[in-house]
Amino acid sequence: MRYVDIKHAEPGMRPAKTLFDSMGRVLVTSNVELNESSIQKLWEYGFEGIYIADELSADIEIDYVISPALRSEGLACVREQNIDACLNIARKIVEEILERETLMLDLTDLRSFDDYTYAHSVNVAVLCCVIGVGLEMSETDLTGLVTAALIHDLGKMLIPPEILNKPDRLTPEEYEIMKTHAVKSYELIKDRYDIPSQVKTAVHFHHENVDGSGYPDGLDAAQQSIFIKILHVADV
Ligand SMILES: [Fe+2]
Repeated sequence: MRYVDIKHAEPGMRPAKTLFDSMGRVLVTSNVELNESSIQKLWEYGFEGIYIADELSADIEIDYVISPALRSEGLACVREQNIDACLNIARKIVEEILERETLMLDLTDLRSFDDYTYAHSVNVAVLCCVIGVGLEMSETDLTGLVTAALIHDLGKMLIPPEILNKPDRLTPEEYEIMKTHAVKSYELIKDRYDIPSQVKTAVHFHHENVDGSGYPDGLDAAQQSIFIKILHVADV
């Protein structure tokens, strides 16, 4: 299979993989030829490209980072703001990634899903896990980090939709409201005894920058845990 930019996708090409929307519904099916309307649908869902199968690339295999089924489960738990399910899915994501013998990630795969907060959160979770594996974190830490990633933007669901979904630039006042989502996410979990404190602080401070210019508290690098830094980088 090979990667084709969506601008160069043409009717008659055969997708190498089935693609799903954020609800887990099938958008295009592997090996079923693309047509004008399926290509249009991929555009509308914000896909930047697609893997296609052809003779030239017949012997090249590209794996999903996590299985489509697990991705759908992850999307569902974020969409439903189900924190118990997020804890469970975080464990499964870490297990799936640790089971891989090699971590050859094609990051285009990470960007080829529609861009809702929940799809983004699963992508951030996968990136966090991969960074954590690279840093030789323990499985417990990886699970905590992935949990923080799945939960970090749940507070956005509590931002008025007219601000959250505003297509134009936010006014300074609206931006101040938007910024409260980090604290709102933290408040959803702060009283839970089963979530480690470093997961809570990572969620709370995921928009802090190492130069102290972030929010909500303007923490500098020395005040930030490794969880906060990884989550911030993966999110950006
Ligand atoms: Fe955020």
